[in-house]
Amino acid sequence: MVKPIGIFDSGIGGTSIWREIEKLLPYEDTIYLADSANAPYGAKSKEKILELSIKNTELLIEKNCKLIVVACNTATTNAIDFLRANYDVPFIGIEPAIKPAALHTKTKKVGVLATKGTLSSTLFHSTSKMFAQGITVLEQEGTGLVELIEEGKLHADETRTLLKKYLDPMLEQHIDCLVLGCTHYPYLISLIKELVPSGLTIIDSGEAVARQTKAVLEKNQLAVQMKNWTAHWFYSNTDTNILSSFVLGPSVYIEYLDF
Ligand code: SIN
Repeated sequence: MVKPIGIFDSGIGGTSIWREIEKLLPYEDTIYLADSANAPYGAKSKEKILELSIKNTELLIEKNCKLIVVACNTATTNAIDFLRANYDVPFIGIEPAIKPAALHTKTKKVGVLATKGTLSSTLFHSTSKMFAQGITVLEQEGTGLVELIEEGKLHADETRTLLKKYLDPMLEQHIDCLVLGCTHYPYLISLIKELVPSGLTIIDSGEAVARQTKAVLEKNQLAVQMKNWTAHWFYSNTDTNILSSFVLGPSVYIEYLDF
């Protein structure tokens, strides 16, 4: 039997990662858990984020997943070390893309838009320390953005107003790279582009995560080489309507699940 790749997020944001994985690995089946009933993770305690990450991981393992993508920056930065130490499947996380930003910046100033949970994590600080020497990293909490995205308000005036409030102070400090440190935020890219100068580089982790997933599958001889039929199962523990509008397509099955 062909085992699927498991993916979880606090809601629909991780579908931005799923899309890249599906593009790069077209023969792989996937199972995605949208824990929208508990979104946002970003304002929760480390203990709570860990508890939710364990719950999602155990469900994906029960569903026979061969590898798990923690498609949530907040869960990665707070729980991935524990998950890797305690479960016998490979894990891929979404580490903040500080390294590519530090390599790319000319002004030596990069902005990071992320949740409180990510920005306060040890992993975020060690990544910044390791890769951003000599670079000013301007951190901005995106409080409230995940909720608006979960409601599908990607182009709403209130989303634009909140984004502007978060972006303007970083722009005033002359950042030339903006790291999207939350997998929900790529869904705001078109709005962000309207609010920032055209020369600003926006960095998200989707493609890099897909490449890493492929490399780890191949290294562990878990990759599917070829097959005629794939299935992508999406489970949400709230109303599935908005999730459906993000991932509709052939071979996509969406169901409510109480988890
Ligand atoms: C959240 O649930 O607060 C955001 C998820 C993320 O950090 O990617």
